[in-house]
Amino acid sequence: MRAVDIIQKKKEGKTHTKEEIDFLVQGLLDGTIEDYQMAAWLMAVCFKGLDDDETAYLTEAFINSGDILDFSDISNIVADKHSTGGVGDKVTIVLIPLLASLGVPCAKLSGRGLGYTGGTVDKLESIPNFVCSLKDEDFKTQIKKIGAAISAQTPNLTPADGKIYALRDVTATVDNKSLICASVVSKKIASGADIIVLDVKYGAGAFIKTKEEAKELADLMIKTGAKLNRKISAVISSMEQPLGTHIGNSLEIIESIEFLKGNFNKDLYEIVLEIASKTLVLAHLAKDYKEADKMVKSAIKSGSALNKLKEIIKAQGGNPDCTDDYKLFNVGENKFEIKTDKDGYVSKLDALLIAKACKLLGAGRDKKSDLIDFGAGCILNKKTGDKVNAGDTLLTLFWNNIKEEKINEAKECAQSAFEYSSTAPENIPLIYKED
Ligand code: URA
Repeated sequence: MRAVDIIQKKKEGKTHTKEEIDFLVQGLLDGTIEDYQMAAWLMAVCFKGLDDDETAYLTEAFINSGDILDFSDISNIVADKHSTGGVGDKVTIVLIPLLASLGVPCAKLSGRGLGYTGGTVDKLESIPNFVCSLKDEDFKTQIKKIGAAISAQTPNLTPADGKIYALRDVTATVDNKSLICASVVSKKIASGADIIVLDVKYGAGAFIKTKEEAKELADLMIKTGAKLNRKISAVISSMEQPLGTHIGNSLEIIESIEFLKGNFNKDLYEIVLEIASKTLVLAHLAKDYKEADKMVKSAIKSGSALNKLKEIIKAQGGNPDCTDDYKLFNVGENKFEIKTDKDGYVSKLDALLIAKACKLLGAGRDKKSDLIDFGAGCILNKKTGDKVNAGDTLLTLFWNNIKEEKINEAKECAQSAFEYSSTAPENIPLIYKED
């Protein structure tokens, strides 16, 4: 077999065998296939696609490229969730302590920011001294001890995805459904969880732009899980506007802490509850959504979910006092309020433009090696559907140390993220449900 023939075959739109896909993935790992050959194949896949079997072969090849974790000695309801990426998406930071406090052990493997989307690992690392790079044994020991751990993907877990992901990021080959499916599903299966809930996001701030495509991706992931004997559940949610009110690493941790103290934004609550209820029902701890809602509310009211977050922070080297003392976060000491000169309603708030503004202030990376300013970002005062009067503050930008021209660009970007109408816009549901 030769890589060039496999690339040619996909370029002509033909279907691969399992052996061909294994050959490519294995070759990339052992160095017999070059990055540029893999990049050419990835681009051919973007143009010609992979069918369901090829997608499952690729997923399986990723899983088998590294270790597979096993929690069967801890519990048979270990849960993991994964979002396909968004802006202001702090669901994991709220959900994992919440579920763990309700008796669901959580083994959460997370990633760093990618493109304009944020990453849980970066967010957690904004907690001083918090360690996200847990070794497999430490990850497991922590779950046994306190019921939850959140770690970056270790290098020996789906290493083929790690390599291919880095190539996709720089070759404009991220947004293919089969490639996203193989990347996400392989990581979730290799992470050894029994209950896998995926949050498939669509809209301006997501890789997938329409709900129809998100539905196709969710179906593909569920089907791929089934082909590999794993039951996967999926939620489809809108990422047209940022989730919640805070965007940026430290700011999102602060919003998550506030959430667990009971001060929650309704959109964030809706999606946390949707994923929590699916998990609790699959774990046979709740009989339905209504019961799950009661359990979630009581874990927040009693403070047990917040206490679990403190336990996780402490176990991973961070200072749990940060949940009471937000000064420990080093949130940008410079701020600027963006105001509107319109009367009416916010008809649109573009998640991508808000993410771009935050990135310009230092909240994200352009290159892998870039350093992030954890304290950069923004807090939204107005979201889609809100009434506004001229002079109202739309959002506040935060930054520490950034060049004047970037600050000005960020201000323009943030201002242009808002569109207005004279009457209240139609309410677009956050969670997509089929009729
Ligand atoms: N998240 C992943 O882990 N992989 C993708 O391809 C997209 C989002």
